[in-house]
Amino acid sequence: MPVLNKERIMGIRALESVIESVATSDGAGVKLRRSLGASQALRVDPFLMLDEFSSDNPDDYIAGFPPHPHRGFETVTYMLEGHMRHEDHLGHRGELRSGGVQWMTAGRGIIHSEMPRQEQGRMRGFQLWINLPAREKMKPPAYRDIPPEEIPEIRLPGGGRAKVIAGTLVVNRESTPGPVRELATDPLYFDVTLPAGASFSHPVPNDHNAFLYAHEGELKVGEAAAARTLRAHSAGVLSDGDEILVANGGPGEVRFLLLAGRPLREPIVQYGPFVMNTREEIEQAIRDYQSGEITRTAV
Ligand code: CO
Repeated sequence: MPVLNKERIMGIRALESVIESVATSDGAGVKLRRSLGASQALRVDPFLMLDEFSSDNPDDYIAGFPPHPHRGFETVTYMLEGHMRHEDHLGHRGELRSGGVQWMTAGRGIIHSEMPRQEQGRMRGFQLWINLPAREKMKPPAYRDIPPEEIPEIRLPGGGRAKVIAGTLVVNRESTPGPVRELATDPLYFDVTLPAGASFSHPVPNDHNAFLYAHEGELKVGEAAAARTLRAHSAGVLSDGDEILVANGGPGEVRFLLLAGRPLREPIVQYGPFVMNTREEIEQAIRDYQSGEITRTAV
């Protein structure tokens, strides 16, 4: 007997909406493009924000991100090119270099800085914010520096390659787990490169939200007959379905991020770098920051 309900809808995800990035600046004046998070309505639960920074002009990045707090979510910094140093109030220090990732769980609170360690040259990468479920928002802060050699890069059968930052890549029934797994939001985070004419498909649970971010070239998203174009520097939010299918939509190489995760479906109250569930929790976060409590280490 066929079972047809919302959980069993099968099919290829279509491009449902596009969030074009807008030029903005953050930290001490770092120029960047923000797609998700450009306004609080532009989120893809559990993803809160995506910034792309890319410049070979030191004036655009040299001031960096001096010490600032976070509470209630995770920040994921993926460097394509360049060198930044991360330091936090607990004395942790990490170097972010080309191809590396820093996965920071702010939890109950962290005060950190991310400062360029180069005075010239290209600085290019992404910062993604992923929400934490209510039960994990006040857990102790933690972070992982993931060097490029710990990020598997898989050759794709139709040409191209995929880097597996989080979750498990499945190609031709072969599974390649990335370094980050088993989070409450169960994220997939791939960086995929396709030559002209190539396509890529990947399974994704129907009840997970997904989006693509093209950062070089353009994509055709969805079934060929109904495929829609996603241009560079835009986030493409996908419909329900159990498979993502994209093709290179241009004459050159296309490079894009694929992100999917289990939605939390919890209320979100955000005040700058604090993301909680209620207004009272935000007021508490501000008080804890002002009083220094946010940096008091729970042992
Ligand atoms: Co930060």
